[in-house]
Formats: sequence, C-alpha cells, structure tokens
Amino acid sequence: MDRGAAESPIGVFDSGVGGLTVAREIMRGLPAEQIVYFGDTARLPYGSKSRETILMFSRQIIRFLQTQGVKAIVIACNTASAFALDEVSRENSLPMIGVVKPGARVAASATVNGRIGVIGTEGTVGSHIYRDFIRKIDPRITVIEKACPLFVPLVEERWIHDTITRQVAERYLEQMKEEQVDTLVLGCTHYPLLRSMIGEVMGDRVTLVNPAYEAAQELKRLLDSEGLTNPGTDEKGFPYRFFVSDLAESFKEFANSILPYDVGMTQKIDIEEY
Ligand code: DGL
Repeated sequence: MDRGAAESPIGVFDSGVGGLTVAREIMRGLPAEQIVYFGDTARLPYGSKSRETILMFSRQIIRFLQTQGVKAIVIACNTASAFALDEVSRENSLPMIGVVKPGARVAASATVNGRIGVIGTEGTVGSHIYRDFIRKIDPRITVIEKACPLFVPLVEERWIHDTITRQVAERYLEQMKEEQVDTLVLGCTHYPLLRSMIGEVMGDRVTLVNPAYEAAQELKRLLDSEGLTNPGTDEKGFPYRFFVSDLAESFKEFANSILPYDVGMTQKIDIEEY
C-alpha cells in the first residue's frame, strides 16, 4: 500500500455519541492516526431497530465515509457490528472491523470459571452474536446475556455517578451476580462510561471487558498487517473531523465532555443522500 493511503484517515461510525468511547481508544492507542467520525444522531437509537434498517443505515454511512477518503472503517456501534459488519465487509474492499469480535475474543481468554456475562442493547443481545463468537472459541463457556436499554439514556443525560443509575445497574446486574460470571462484556458503546459503577456493583473479582479498547488494539494489528499504519511524520493540524446527521451542537458538547480535546467543529450532513 502506498504512503498516500497510509496517511489517510480511519472512518469510525456509530448511531451517535457512544462511539466516541471507541474513537477515544483509537486516539490514545494510535495517536498518529487521523479520524473521520460519523454519528447518526438523526436516526438513533440503533439498539431497538431491525437488522434490515441497521444494514441500510450502515451502507449509507460507509458510502459517506468513502467520500472522505478513509483507508479503513471501524464500526464502533455494537448493534451495527452485530447486524451489518459481515455483509458490508463482503461488499467492500476497504478493511473493516467491528467491536464485537475483539471483545468476545478477550472475554473468552479472560474467564477462569467459564461463565461470561454480556450486556448490550436489545438488538445486540437478541442477535446472540457475542455468545456465538465466544462459544465458537470455546464451546464449554456459558454465556449469560442481558439487555440493559436504560443505560444509554442515563449516560446521555450524563447521570454517570447518579444514585438512580446505580439502582438501575444493581437491578440489571443482579442476575449476572447470581449466575456468578467472572467476566462481563460491556457490549454497548455507552457502557464503558459506566465502567466504575458497573465495577462497584459486580465487585472486583469480576473482569470487565471493554470492546472499545479491544477494537483499537485490533485496528492497530490490522493497519500493521495491511501496511496502512500512518507514519505520522507530517504536522497537519487537528487530526479529527466529526460529522453528524442532526444536532451538531449537542453532539459537540458531549464530545467535549469525554474527549481530551476541544472538538471544535462538528458538521451536519444529510446522510440520506448517500
Ligand atoms: N451505539 C449503540 C450500541 O453500541 C448504543 C446506542 C443505540 O442504541 O443507538 O449498540
């Protein structure tokens, strides 16, 4: 692959702000890489929509990201990774990864007692994709899945340390404790932002797996193997660009609350045109 391609940005997309947890890990772990981020804020949530709809949205977003000259795509959304990654990567020659496989792989190697919990949106949990990947790696592992849909609005409300969120977490995670999982996959973009609270509720003997972090590690390996790692020698100004399908201002506010950079500008585009 030529140097021009290696210097191109990574395309990252999600239904909205949640995928910023993945972008943040890429910024930390691969600081020489540029990112074009798209948040589908006009059409979220993805977690309660059908496979067909999410596939159609993902195809449009990929077409948009291709207009931005990206060299690889990270599907930051767990639901879109579950519903669309296989199809869209078959349809495109661009290297693509999602967050589910990297998270499942690490969970399978982290468990000692062979009991893994997976929490996510209704879409992700209903697809059983984490369970299927984990059991492909080791069929002896028991996977307990639970949809925790209220976590997404609570995070977006920024009630990250609120007692209400704590009560919701205790209620959702009760079953995981009863089932004595020793590993819990935070299988939704928003959940890493509740990591410390979930960790307190589950107790420190439970390993929390953050697919956002694991996806950034996987991206690093992918770029290296494809010869696409940005040599990062040229100074080019702010390396991150943000696009949304609606509500650019509130996206920017949220982004500035979780990223270690001032996001500056977020541009609204009409994603239905792609
Ligand atoms: N980004 C979604 C996910 O990780 C959560 C938010 C939504 O439902 O759109 O599954």
